[in-house]
Amino acid sequence: IEAVPLPDIAVDVVISNCVINLSDDKAAALAEAFRVLRPGGRLGVSDVVTNGVIDPRRRAAAEQRVGCVAGSLSIDAYRDLLRKAGFVGIVIRLTVDHGDGVHSAIIQAAKPAISPGLVIRPMREGDADQVLAIYQAGLDTGQASFETVAPSWEGFTASRLPNLRYVAVDTETGLVVGWIAASPVSARPAYAGVVEHSVYVHPGCQAHGIGRALLAAFIAGSEDAGIWTIQSGIFPENAASLSLHQALGFRVVGTRERIGRHDGLWRDVLMLERRSTAVGR
Ligand SMILES: CC(C)(COP(=O)(O)OP(=O)(O)OC[C@H]1O[C@@H](n2cnc3c(N)ncnc32)[C@H](O)[C@@H]1OP(=O)(O)O)[C@@H](O)C(=O)NCCC(=O)NCCS
Repeated sequence: IEAVPLPDIAVDVVISNCVINLSDDKAAALAEAFRVLRPGGRLGVSDVVTNGVIDPRRRAAAEQRVGCVAGSLSIDAYRDLLRKAGFVGIVIRLTVDHGDGVHSAIIQAAKPAISPGLVIRPMREGDADQVLAIYQAGLDTGQASFETVAPSWEGFTASRLPNLRYVAVDTETGLVVGWIAASPVSARPAYAGVVEHSVYVHPGCQAHGIGRALLAAFIAGSEDAGIWTIQSGIFPENAASLSLHQALGFRVVGTRERIGRHDGLWRDVLMLERRSTAVGR
């Protein structure tokens, strides 16, 4: 399961019955499941998990009663590994309580959906040049941001949440065709679940549903991460971005009038936000 003998994007569903806990490289096992799945494909696992980190004595006691406790992950660690592999829509449902903090569980997740020939996966260091080039092309339109020059990779990566960045990749060429990433809006605990995001699609690939697929994956991934509000500032002239965001549940909170200067010109910015109905209800 750490080296599945199948090509990329080969199957609709990965199922597994109580073996992932036995793997000593669970990150590799989940990365392989992600690799072989088609976009929109689903993972369905039955496994044994622990409710938090349990001390070795309780774990040993549970092992007397239940098989497969060895190597079992805590619920949070399982969720983190699934997110790192690129899965979204993660549901971990506890079933039988075996005592001593050990549970059976059904774990479900999906590979983000996107049109054929493309895949959405977590952003990697090796994507840096392409991500920044797409960023610069968007800035050059004059309608994407007040910024005019894309930052260095160090600057980009330092201000953005590491586990909430995705790229859309052409599976034939391996080239990045779009990206989405987010930064926290505040260090105050009350705003811990509020982020501000950016989405950029390669100019030659726009209006093919890539922005929509990236934003949908990002929304699902952010809810998995406990984010309750996603916000973005959009120039009123950016019709594509405005209608994309409204189509995926963002509302215009208001207009910030002549809030900043872009190329010497004072510009309005529309504040948009999407309040999750699933997180922080
Ligand atoms: C905004 C952007 C990310 C949209 O991505 P995209 O892949 O081109 O958009 P999609 O093809 O997924 O379209 C999704 C929806 O956006 C809207 N949309 C896309 N292009 C549009 C356009 N030119 N005019 C009006 N609406 C448009 C539509 O509602 C569309 O849904 P539909 O196809 O069901 O009608 C992309 O145009 C881009 O990268 N622009 C430059 C950078 C930028 O402005 N980023 C946003 C900063 S706030």
